[in-house]
Amino acid sequence: MKVTVVGAGNVGATCAQAVAEKGIVKEVVLVDIKDGLAEGKSLDLWQTAPINYYDTRLIGSTNDYSKTADSEVVVITSGVPRKPGMSRDDLISINAGIVKSVTENVIKYSPNAKIIIVSNPLDVMTYCAYLTAKKSKNEVFGMAGILDTARYRAFLAEELDVNPKDIQALLMGGHGDTMVPLPRYTTVSGIPVTELIDADKLDAIIDRTKKGGGELVNLMGTSAWYAPGSAAAQMVEAIVLDQKRIFPCCAYLEGEYGLNDIYIGVPVKLGKNGIEQIIEVNLNDDEKALLEGSAKSVKDVMTVLDNMNLFE
Ligand code: NAI
Ligand code: 2OP
Repeated sequence: MKVTVVGAGNVGATCAQAVAEKGIVKEVVLVDIKDGLAEGKSLDLWQTAPINYYDTRLIGSTNDYSKTADSEVVVITSGVPRKPGMSRDDLISINAGIVKSVTENVIKYSPNAKIIIVSNPLDVMTYCAYLTAKKSKNEVFGMAGILDTARYRAFLAEELDVNPKDIQALLMGGHGDTMVPLPRYTTVSGIPVTELIDADKLDAIIDRTKKGGGELVNLMGTSAWYAPGSAAAQMVEAIVLDQKRIFPCCAYLEGEYGLNDIYIGVPVKLGKNGIEQIIEVNLNDDEKALLEGSAKSVKDVMTVLDNMNLFE
C-alpha cells in the first residue's frame, strides 16, 4: 500500500516520518515543487529505518506525480505557512492555486485516493480540493480537529497533572480562532472535566486552545509541525487500517448541525472508505450559537475563494 504526502516542508516531512515509523504501509512518496527537497528529505528519513526499526520505503519526487500513482491516501500540505501577524485566512490567495493544481495532479494518478488536506486556511482549502477533485465528499476531508483537540487535551493534562492519554475531548467548528471546544464532551477517564477544574481555569484553557496555532507562530516565526504532522498521520492510519476511529475532522455538511454546503470540523467515523459517518451530537443553545458563528467565519473565507474565480 502506498501513501503520498505532497509538500516536503515542516508538516509534510513530519507526517511522512510518522506514517513510515508506524510501519503500516509499504511506501511513502514525498512530493515537493522545490528541486531536490523531497528526494533529500525522503533519503534522510529512509536512513532512519535501520535505527528506528521500520521498513516502509520512502521515495522523493520533484513534481513527478507518476511516482504517486495508485496511492491509497494522499495528504496535501503544500502551501505557505503563517508568519507572525498573519491569520490563516491571509494565506488563501497563494494556497488556493497551489491546492487546486496539486489536487489535479493527484487525481490524475490516484483517482481512488482518500485526500486529506492540511494546507491553510484549512476548511476552505478542503472545499477547494473537493471542487477540484470532483470526488465523493467522503473521500476529501481536512485535518485540524485532531490537532486542536490535542492542544486542548495537552493543556488540560498539564493543568490537572494527569496523563494526557486519559483525556477525551471533542472540539468542533472551523480551524481558526472561532473553533468550539466542548467542555460538556470533555472527560478525564469518564469523569466530566467540569468536576475537576475551576470554571475560570477551564475558560483560560479554552481561550489558549483557540489561539494555540498563533502562540506557536509567535514563538517560532512560522507555524507548528510536530503535532500537525502527527495528527495527519493518525488520520492516515485510521484509513489504511480501517480502524473506524471517531475523530473531529473537517467534513462536508449537507444539513448536519443545520449547516449546508460547507466544510467544517465535526466528529466523524474514519475508516477505509474515508469519512464513513458524520456523528451528530446534541448541542445546547450556547454551543449551537458558537458553531454557527464559526460557520459564518468559514463562509466569509469561502466568499474570498469564490471571488478568485478559480472554478469557472
Ligand atoms: P513549509 O513551508 O515548511 O512547507 C510547505 C512546502 O510546500 C514547501 O516545501 C514548498 O516548497 C511546498 N510547495 C509549495 N507549492 C507547492 C506545489 N505547487 N507543489 C508541491 N509542493 C509545493 O510549510 P508547513 O509548515 O509545512 O505548512 C504547510 C501548510 O500547512 C501551510 O499552509 C500551513 O498553514 C498549514 N498547516 C495547517 C495545519 C492544520 O492544522 N490544518 C497545521 C499546521 C500547518
Ligand atoms: C496551526 O494551527 C497554523 O494551522 C496551523 O498550527
